[in-house]
Amino acid sequence: MRVLGVNAVFHDPAAALIVDGQIVAAAEEERFSRRKHGKRPVPFSAWELPEQSAAWCLETAGLRPEDLDAVAYSYDPADCRPAGEMGLDDPWDWLRIRYAQEAPQFLAEALPGLDPSAVRYVRHHEAHAASAGLAAPFGDTSVLVCDGRGEAASHLAGRYAGGRLEVLASQPLPHSLGLFYEQATAHLGFLHSSDEYKVMALASYGTPRFARELSRLVYADGAGGFRTEPIGWDSLVKRRQPGEPLTAEHADLASSVQRVTEDVLLDLVRWLHGQTGGRELAMAGGVALNCVANSRLHREGPFDRIWIQPAAGDAGTALGGALQLAAAAGEIAGPMPDAYLGRGWTDQELEAWLQTAAWPYERPASIGAAIAAELAADRIVAWFQGRSEFGPRALGSRSLLAHPGRKENLDRLNAVKGREEFRPVAPMVLAEAAAEIFHGPLPSPYMLFVHSVDPAWRDRIPAVVHVDGTARAQTVDGTTQPELARMLTEFRARTGLPVVVNTSLNTAGRPMVDDPRDALECFGSAPVDVLAIGPFLVRRPGSPAAGGSAAGAGS
Ligand SMILES: [Fe+2]
Repeated sequence: MRVLGVNAVFHDPAAALIVDGQIVAAAEEERFSRRKHGKRPVPFSAWELPEQSAAWCLETAGLRPEDLDAVAYSYDPADCRPAGEMGLDDPWDWLRIRYAQEAPQFLAEALPGLDPSAVRYVRHHEAHAASAGLAAPFGDTSVLVCDGRGEAASHLAGRYAGGRLEVLASQPLPHSLGLFYEQATAHLGFLHSSDEYKVMALASYGTPRFARELSRLVYADGAGGFRTEPIGWDSLVKRRQPGEPLTAEHADLASSVQRVTEDVLLDLVRWLHGQTGGRELAMAGGVALNCVANSRLHREGPFDRIWIQPAAGDAGTALGGALQLAAAAGEIAGPMPDAYLGRGWTDQELEAWLQTAAWPYERPASIGAAIAAELAADRIVAWFQGRSEFGPRALGSRSLLAHPGRKENLDRLNAVKGREEFRPVAPMVLAEAAAEIFHGPLPSPYMLFVHSVDPAWRDRIPAVVHVDGTARAQTVDGTTQPELARMLTEFRARTGLPVVVNTSLNTAGRPMVDDPRDALECFGSAPVDVLAIGPFLVRRPGSPAAGGSAAGAGS
């Protein structure tokens, strides 16, 4: 069975393809259109479809639109209610519903040859749930979805047994933990539905002095759901305009919002465990990208193991919708092997790009070993390898790398990326060395948890230790990422550190680099010393080879 999944209705448009139970491809439209999050989540953009990512999914599998058995659309207009009835102030919501109703015809226009009757609506939160429950390495599992909103709800708690979902609780709108966090994001002068992770980072600089007041309005109801009552944000802290300085007061509000969100999630997880008695929990929905909350659920919650869909935001509903239809047909895809589901290029194609761009390049015997030498010499490296990541985190396919032993490298990377100085960068670590340095959920291949950095290591890797002594570690396993593991092994041999700094390969306000042209444009426009693109090494003019580099044959 050939199933295409699409997410289109709010933001993070994306497409995914499943053939005979296997995940073949998944990609976000932003990586093609170069517009972050694909579009703003406004009703009048709901018609915009992930046209380029859907076409690429089909092309990569050698399929035509008419070859598809089904297309999953991760929003069901039949499940919607008028916004006013749901207590939402959104005068154009009907437009979103209308566009969703016409989606089969729109998709048939976008993908000529597609039969509109192949399009199936999958409820938004069931698509999120499938992206977690049917992709986790658990078999049967409890599942929790929490986001801003779907059709008429903002949450789902349930369990998967034999590939089928049983819904145990669902919180109707307007109550929404995701919208609560979005409101705080906007009040703090950031872009809502986009910059929530900045609030999470800011939270660790503050104290939760407003948490008690907020918890009277935002709390779990003891029956699997919760309440988020209207909040007089200005009575707590005056609204910050974008660009205004961040103060301790802003950090305190961020800290309070983070604390209350975590408290509610912990209650929801405990309730769910009381219903299922399971040991494993799978999570998705935008709130599940909050790695600080996830770690608290792991630390204080009742489940032994937690797996989070790496594309936990709405992009992941493209994959989840397709998984749900495949499972309903008895074709269970099995656990998701990794998140490297996007575009990739052959060595020959990459070399042709370098020749077109007329950059001098080398082909060292081992790109991993050569880059380890560059990093040990404190160069900033753009690392472009293999297929791109599905989801918002750079996991070693499209990464910016640096030496973790120099604290000033945080500022160097934030300068490359044009980011705020309070934003941390994360470590990637050899899986076998992780437990000595990072305490918390391990392995951690998707960077969805934070870890406490062992005190003995904090001074050794200061660039990646956040102000509260934590780090968001990614563990690297040689079986799934051999070249990355080789680079880390060689870096350890040179420096004694099995860790490098990893942040996403992009510049301010832009989506992550995806194709070779993006990589070359980013390399050409940002103060990056070296580009490792496939097996090739490109140096910025004037940047000498690192001493002892394994870089050999030139071109
Ligand atoms: Fe969602």
